[in-house]
Amino acid sequence: MISLWLDALRTIPTHTFEPGAHYDEVIVGGGITGLVAALLFAREGRRVAVLEARTIGAGATGNTTGKISQLQGTQLSKIKRFNYQSIVQAYADGTRDAFDWLIEYAESGGVPIERRDAYSYAETASGSRAVEREYELARSVGLPVQKVVDAGLPFPTFSAVRLPDQAQFDPMNLLASLATDIGLLGGRVVERARVLGVRAASHPVRIETSRGEVTAAHVILATGTPILSRGLYFAKVAAERSYAQSFDLPAGQLPDGMFLSVETPTRSVRTWRGQLLTGGNGHPVGREASPQSRVDDLTRWTEQYWPGAVRTHAWSAQDYSAMHHVPFVGWLPRGFGRIYLATGYDKWGMTGGVAAARTLVTDILGGTTEWQRVLHHRATLAPVIARGIGENAAVGWWYARGWAGALVRRLPDAVPAEGMGVVGRSGLLPAAVSTVDGVTCQLSGICSHLGAVVTWNDAEHSWDCPAHGSRFASDGAVLGGPARRGLKRT
Ligand SMILES: Cc1cc2nc3c(=O)[nH]c(=O)nc-3n(C[C@H](O)[C@H](O)[C@H](O)COP(=O)(O)OP(=O)(O)OC[C@H]3O[C@@H](n4cnc5c(N)ncnc54)[C@H](O)[C@@H]3O)c2cc1C
Ligand code: FES
Repeated sequence: MISLWLDALRTIPTHTFEPGAHYDEVIVGGGITGLVAALLFAREGRRVAVLEARTIGAGATGNTTGKISQLQGTQLSKIKRFNYQSIVQAYADGTRDAFDWLIEYAESGGVPIERRDAYSYAETASGSRAVEREYELARSVGLPVQKVVDAGLPFPTFSAVRLPDQAQFDPMNLLASLATDIGLLGGRVVERARVLGVRAASHPVRIETSRGEVTAAHVILATGTPILSRGLYFAKVAAERSYAQSFDLPAGQLPDGMFLSVETPTRSVRTWRGQLLTGGNGHPVGREASPQSRVDDLTRWTEQYWPGAVRTHAWSAQDYSAMHHVPFVGWLPRGFGRIYLATGYDKWGMTGGVAAARTLVTDILGGTTEWQRVLHHRATLAPVIARGIGENAAVGWWYARGWAGALVRRLPDAVPAEGMGVVGRSGLLPAAVSTVDGVTCQLSGICSHLGAVVTWNDAEHSWDCPAHGSRFASDGAVLGGPARRGLKRT
């Protein structure tokens, strides 16, 4: 599965890894958060390096649906459920700030964007109440939203909220432009350098990578979920995988806008250069019996409403959601004020990643704004604690289920069919065997992060961890999540 964005030919300027080099700022992760932060630091004359484990955009940013919107489904309602109104206001102000920065950067730097109205729509009376709540909250924070009945989709909508003049783009055009600008300012963008450990107790911070060690005054973890255990952020966010597809359509069928359903299963709709993009069907990473069935369902739904649609690409990615639905941005506990993190954009990282990057740069260089100050001082309310307990109970249940399931069932003698994987007992421990492209590979079935048992993802031919969302290729290599090391071959 490759995204429409990653499938296009383009040049992203990158640099070689310099073992032993010292930087002012090392940014771990080459997605939107990491590259915007690197550019902002480089503009301030800081010596900066981005270390990316895979390739630029390989994480969520190269696999997003790429809507740049201040109307974000029912995000304000989700935030309000767990926070005071002042936090909702600060989140909206930060989103507006990020939106303005991103549009200005794109327009002045030649990154193509298309302005579109954004819609959150309901198909039922109960969904319509969610639309009404989001409308009221959006008005309360100053967004010029409107209520409409017909959202302009090829099926009836009960009601919708519309925010005019939002935007959509190809996110890889943005990353290519950011990487170019970072290089022009003397920064380095390095691919295939996985950070394995960070020692911050003494100055400078020592960063161990798969290519050697470098040092820096500060390290920013822009890795989706943080790769370090300090602060236990991996347990404070939930990892959700979701799906996107692009389609060629018969002439005259393209909808005019960017749409997100407020009901589940989530449906996301936008267009790009004459193609239709649909998305949704998310689920917690590693907890879906057949991710392929989610892919097929999304294709069927699209074909039902846009007859004659021909799928060109199908892809998926994961993003992280904090229990209180406000991103975690700031210094990492026990990082001696030298390690920072940003995570938990709840699938709104085009603005969330920019807002986080701007916050981290002001945290380190000074100049904090009011919305940043308010978000830094967010209080944890009782419903957040209750949600956290529920989420961690679910994680515990998946540990128990994975281990019990693997230990009662011996690994079958027959190798799995092409594209399939199976977990079972080998000796005394869980093992994971799969066959992909004719190669059968047997690995430890125990996640290298914190020991949950992995499950097979039949859509992407990967081993996914139901505890905190780490993912591994069929040969055991790390693909994403908090794990820094692969699954061992057995
Ligand atoms: C299906 C889907 C659709 C979405 N649609 C939208 C949308 O329409 N609008 C919107 O605003 N948001 C959307 N989002 C959310 C948005 O895409 C993300 O929030 C955003 O891309 C996150 O950016 P990031 O830079 O924080 O992380 P990423 O883009 O995931 O980048 C993190 C990088 O860190 C690297 N990394 C990880 N570990 C290491 C390590 N140890 N060493 C070095 N590098 C490492 C990874 O390889 C990765 O490239 C969507 C998300 C999903 C999943
Ligand atoms: S991701 Fe934490 S145990 Fe697997």
